[in-house]
Amino acid sequence: MEKKNNTSDKSSAGSARSGSGNKATMKSSQLMELFEDGLKDIYWAEKALLKAMPKMTKNATSEELIEALTSHLEETKGQITRLEEVFALIKVKAEAKKCDAMEGLIEEASGIMEDCEKGSMRDAGIIAAAQKVEHYEIASYGTLRQFAETLGLTDVEVLLATTLQEEKEADLKLSDVAMAAINVEAAGEPA
Ligand SMILES: [Fe+2]
Ligand SMILES: [Fe+2]
Repeated sequence: MEKKNNTSDKSSAGSARSGSGNKATMKSSQLMELFEDGLKDIYWAEKALLKAMPKMTKNATSEELIEALTSHLEETKGQITRLEEVFALIKVKAEAKKCDAMEGLIEEASGIMEDCEKGSMRDAGIIAAAQKVEHYEIASYGTLRQFAETLGLTDVEVLLATTLQEEKEADLKLSDVAMAAINVEAAGEPA
């Protein structure tokens, strides 16, 4: 029997800890594979964002929004470097693997910018699109950080946790910008 208790719903991240001998080794090598795939996916996503974010900044009008996007663009550069450090630590070549989800989110952002008139409406649309991006990143880094912990990769876990925190703060900042002015203004504009 592989499962001795009812903790199977704790997902594969936890399962590498249980068991012993070859089975545990096999599970942790599979987890390592998932981990590497996830890193390559988010590496592609971050690089794509680095190219896409300046267009969002150019389309924004609110000063607070421009500031939030500009400072997160700088953070994104650091996050890419951090991922390269992670690849170096696990001795895997830094390689970007196309992330279909992020490509879709970036396309959605472009569509919103085309469809909304420049001003508070477009700003609100940019915030909505940017927050979807942040939530994807939060989900990805949250999982990767957990994988690193399960695999016993402490230094890697610290790097991923740092980026995870930045993504959460970027999301909160966007919420603040939206709450402060944009959504209120957008709702008040004549149709
Ligand atoms: Fe990021
Ligand atoms: Fe981000």
